[in-house]
Amino acid sequence: MTNSQPRTKNIAITGCSGFIGSHILERLLTTSDYHIYGIDISESKIRHLINNKSFTFCHHSITDTPKIREILSQCETVVSLAALCNPSLYNTKPVDVITINFTNALEIIKMCCEFKCRLIQFSTCEVYGKTLAGLMCSNKPDDYILKEDQTNLIMGPVSTQRWSYASAKQLLERIIYAYGFEYGLNYTIVRPFNFIGPQMDYIPGSDGEGVPRVLACFMKSLLYNKPLKLVDGGLSRRCFTFIKDAVDAFVQILENPEISNQQIFNIGNPKNEITIKDLAYLMIELYEQIAPRGSFTAGTEIISSLEFYGKGYEDSDRRVPDISKIQNMLGWKPETDLRKALQITIEHYFRKYGTTAEN
Ligand code: UGA
Repeated sequence: MTNSQPRTKNIAITGCSGFIGSHILERLLTTSDYHIYGIDISESKIRHLINNKSFTFCHHSITDTPKIREILSQCETVVSLAALCNPSLYNTKPVDVITINFTNALEIIKMCCEFKCRLIQFSTCEVYGKTLAGLMCSNKPDDYILKEDQTNLIMGPVSTQRWSYASAKQLLERIIYAYGFEYGLNYTIVRPFNFIGPQMDYIPGSDGEGVPRVLACFMKSLLYNKPLKLVDGGLSRRCFTFIKDAVDAFVQILENPEISNQQIFNIGNPKNEITIKDLAYLMIELYEQIAPRGSFTAGTEIISSLEFYGKGYEDSDRRVPDISKIQNMLGWKPETDLRKALQITIEHYFRKYGTTAEN
């Protein structure tokens, strides 16, 4: 467990083998001299990094408090990424969703206070909930552009369990803020806006089961020549952010604690806004340029959210980040347009899963 580096060069990452964690890990191991303690229950996305001399893989659950304490006591910075962040679970496994995203994450916060670690907590754009624009049929930018320190957070009723995740993350943000206020915890809260890229989620039936997020759902349909399902017509909008841009933003936050501490930052790409329906058409167009001619013919089909997700699902209508705060304070802005981000991502999925799907 011990290494010869001073504590200031040690970083712990919980959820290091998830989509975001695996990309952050790879970047830090190739471009910095930190020693990384990566904590995860799986290593499937980081096998190629396991033997790196600047990396210690800690095969533990974040519920294993004694082990996590031992690791965090040796680190100066903790990046908290372990989460259940898949909408299909919010209304079907709400107890797990609240426990992992709030109760277990709270233990990490307490340890950061005890060991005087700096905390970089990944939250979610979903804390904004629904937009005023959607509720009031308004088109005013102030009613749908989401600002870290001004926008109201609007959730649905308790029985609409879609909001179990957003509420857990909102309470987590509030308690981090409170620990900063009362006990001097140094923290940065990150709100990711629909990051996409290679290694996102899984393909059901190949390397996971259940309903992943929209990009992987659509990839499964493309690879298996099945219709892309447009939930309630696919009219909701999202701003998709390429993972490389997102990791660039993270590195700016990590490297500039004096600017980033006690702050909340949106990380997103407002120029990449698209309806889910148009995302489906764009992915079909790009897939047809990569896959053998005629291998995708299935098109799209509309499905109700009740049939797709079950009772208690409700959607976020629109999520456009205001990114002026991170741009002004840290000089970050996203570079990758949606078409390019999707091209790279689709190519990756096709290389990784294309042959399996054909068999
Ligand atoms: C999810 C998480 O809840 C957020 O915390 C997270 O920040 C976000 O993903 C993200 O990736 O950053 P959401 O955008 O609702 O939020 O997740 P998706 O499953 O990717 O759904 C996006 C939209 O596509 C929704 O309107 C959904 O109904 C729709 N969808 C999904 C389809 O139309 N078809 C599908 O096959 C899957």
